[in-house]
Amino acid sequence: MIKVLIVDDIPETRDHLSRFLGLEREIDVAGTAGSGEEAIQLSMDLRPDVIVMDINMPVLDGIATAEIIAQRLPTSPIIMMSVHGEAEHLKRAMLAGAREFLVKPFSGDEFATSIKRVHERELVRRQQLQVAPGATQASSPAAVESTEDHQVLAVFSPKGGAGVTTLATNLALALRRETNQRVALVDANLQFGDIGVLLNLNPKNKSVLDAVEGGEPDRDIIESVMVDHSTGIRVLLAPPSPEGADLVTPAFLRKIVDMLRETHDWVVVDLPSGLNDHTLGVLDAADQVLVVGALEITTIKNVRLFLEVADQLDYDRSKIRLVINRSDASQGIRIGDVEASIRRTIDGTIVSDGRLAVLAVNRGVPFVISHPESPLARDVIKLARTLAGEGVASTQSIDKAAKRGLFARR
Ligand SMILES: Nc1ncnc2c1ncn2[C@@H]1O[C@H](COP(=O)(O)OP(=O)(O)OP(=O)(O)O)[C@@H](O)[C@H]1O
Ligand SMILES: [Mg+2]
Repeated sequence: MIKVLIVDDIPETRDHLSRFLGLEREIDVAGTAGSGEEAIQLSMDLRPDVIVMDINMPVLDGIATAEIIAQRLPTSPIIMMSVHGEAEHLKRAMLAGAREFLVKPFSGDEFATSIKRVHERELVRRQQLQVAPGATQASSPAAVESTEDHQVLAVFSPKGGAGVTTLATNLALALRRETNQRVALVDANLQFGDIGVLLNLNPKNKSVLDAVEGGEPDRDIIESVMVDHSTGIRVLLAPPSPEGADLVTPAFLRKIVDMLRETHDWVVVDLPSGLNDHTLGVLDAADQVLVVGALEITTIKNVRLFLEVADQLDYDRSKIRLVINRSDASQGIRIGDVEASIRRTIDGTIVSDGRLAVLAVNRGVPFVISHPESPLARDVIKLARTLAGEGVASTQSIDKAAKRGLFARR
């Protein structure tokens, strides 16, 4: 049973939400609170598995309450509810430690699903942190950490404008959301990096250029140039102007990616479309390469050429994953045609939604955060699950088997 605490200052809403969950067999409404103060007291007493809280409450509002609870009870995840889906609300809720954001009105189904999802993710997180349930302080992760299952995910397309930056950014956020692990996002478009804009980061922030000025990259220097985003991911920005790109050598970029891999579970790299020493270095370093294609002949031709290069480079076939962006906007080409043409299966598809994609860029809030229920975001979240879940499991088990000599190669 998932023990839930409902916090809302309006009694009817509390009743309404409790009734929503009345039919759910796995969920038990352990208590309801009408104010922030009451919520803090009750959560310490009940130690709920999930807390659902309204953002707008008199005196101590949802944000302030969430901040206090997230500190005292890090093992009780909070879902924030609001009538507005505004970016500012969202950001503040996430900063305060909320794990999900629900915009009212929502259905009973959405409500229960969100609770179950947050609970499940919390269980995974606890396992990773080895925190005892109900612990009042988040204990630090195991001192000696294996980096074997850390992943560098390079996102690449042999054709410009395919949606690499859009996918890399939203995937990084989706991975964070789904796994709660440490995610770094690297803007490797050294001349014209867009990630700062997509995430609405201050252009005065540090960039990879500041690491170059420090000489040889070392852990402290790289740490000092990573920018924290409100969602919990960490970003390495491209130089603020194109001429800065020349100062970042391929070896330097590669070294940075390798070093970030030591301290992050995921390093997502947004690559420019050409094959050069910079991109090749990152592709070599990557555990998975996500190739972004489209239902368009020239792109498919280039994807096929890239796959040939990957073969020549001796990349393991399982290292390359394929996704078709704007997969529903085809003019006569079907997924099956592409699969036949490149003789590989597609790992994921992303629907076309120009309105939402552009809105997200212009507002500086990626759609995975602002519209997680949209078909576009759902496709990206699904892809993130594929890459995190079965992707990791299958490559890992193959690696392990290889080490045991079961699949001796040649
Ligand atoms: N699924 C989608 N539906 C609609 N529009 C999309 C989708 N994915 C990306 N776009 C839009 O396509 C344009 C190009 O996307 P993006 O910048 O991510 O591509 P890119 O591959 O990184 O390009 P570049 O080669 O310039 O680096 C952007 O305007 C973006 O909003
Ligand atoms: Mg790009």
